[in-house]
Amino acid sequence: MDHFNYRNGELYAEDIPLRRIAEEVGTPFYCYSTATLERHYKVFSGAFDGVNALVCFALKANSNQAVIRTLARLGSGADVVSEGELRRAIAAGIPAGKIVFSGVGKKPEEMRAALTLGIHQFNVESEPELHLLSEIAAGMGVKAPIAFRVNPDVDAKTHAKISTGKAENKFGVPWQDVSRIYADAAALPGIEIKGVDVHIGSQLTDLEPYHHAFTRVAELVQQLRSEGHEITRVDLGGGLGIPYDEAIPPLPTAYAAVALEAVGNLGCQIILEPGRLIVGNAGVLVSEVIYVKQATTRKFIILDAAMNDLVRPALYDGYHHIDPLREDQKQGAYSPADVVGPVCETGDTFARGRDMPEVLARGDLVAFRSAGAYGAVMASTYNTRPLVPEVLVKGDQYAVIRARPSLDEMINLDILPVWLE
Ligand code: LLP
Repeated sequence: MDHFNYRNGELYAEDIPLRRIAEEVGTPFYCYSTATLERHYKVFSGAFDGVNALVCFALKANSNQAVIRTLARLGSGADVVSEGELRRAIAAGIPAGKIVFSGVGKKPEEMRAALTLGIHQFNVESEPELHLLSEIAAGMGVKAPIAFRVNPDVDAKTHAKISTGKAENKFGVPWQDVSRIYADAAALPGIEIKGVDVHIGSQLTDLEPYHHAFTRVAELVQQLRSEGHEITRVDLGGGLGIPYDEAIPPLPTAYAAVALEAVGNLGCQIILEPGRLIVGNAGVLVSEVIYVKQATTRKFIILDAAMNDLVRPALYDGYHHIDPLREDQKQGAYSPADVVGPVCETGDTFARGRDMPEVLARGDLVAFRSAGAYGAVMASTYNTRPLVPEVLVKGDQYAVIRARPSLDEMINLDILPVWLE
């Protein structure tokens, strides 16, 4: 459920017509709803009420300071994958003690920054990373709290580009090697073993892969304990899907039931890293129709948003509902069209042969639904298109939370070498 609804014939974000923001901020822009963010966070964390759980919002899904601070105020921790995200989490008010650091390629300076801040946990993904982390921590006179990210070799049944838990993926250490790797880690001076971590993929719409992965984690915890390790945490990653099209993914309560059935009786702190579930449906991308073009065999609706602003359709065949801001346009006749952006690539296609309101014409406004996760954060300036601004709504107020850069600002980022001055 979200707070983007039609009222008085217009699509609103909470108590504000999106058209008003479009007039004041210009299109395209991302718009997030505070009430939806808060609701999703509470529904997810509420599913683990009464459990020793730490919800670490995966910043990669949306790392705007205002979004993170909204979640920080509800008690959220953070899952970060770079020093940049680490700094963003801290700047937004998330305490270091609630931050976990994931990712296959942590660099020495990133490890140092995280150790200096005293983060909750490093999710270590390889033996070379383990050794470097120990060396750096020992050099600083501290011990790095770690969990190994285990690759459980489970098929998450999601898009190949966002599936991470198969043996062929670059993530984690093979579950079969866990005994040896934990024994090695226990002998290192800069390492303190805390737990076991897993993340099998994103946009999961089926609970069965979770059941397999979490059961494997529970077995590994028992095995590691029998081998003498003190395991006090399990990190179950993120990945629970959201409704983009007609398919309805499992509810957080059903996900929590699967998690707790597998790992609930281990006496461990349970760390969760949801990203998309918290922010996905809390955001829309608003865009204007520039032209409607009738070609020989197809009709093209050309928008002022493009693949550089929202890359999910081009990269993952992602589906986003595209709704007109005017409700009467939604209620009229539909006919198939290709919805495209202005970027000079055929891949710049949001939808092919999609049934769209027939009346849509130059100047009309549309909203891409479910664009709050992996939208703005994945945007680029391809074709020298400015990064899309972001707006946050709260009730009847809104604020620009990232402004659109000017073209001069963009061009001035380039530096001419002396011989070209
Ligand atoms: N934890 C780890 C270690 C992750 O790699 C990810 C996402 C998450 C948590 C959060 O997953 P979520 O709850 O958001 O599914 N750009 C793609 C999704 C990439 C996901 C990468 N890892 C997309 O737009 O579909």
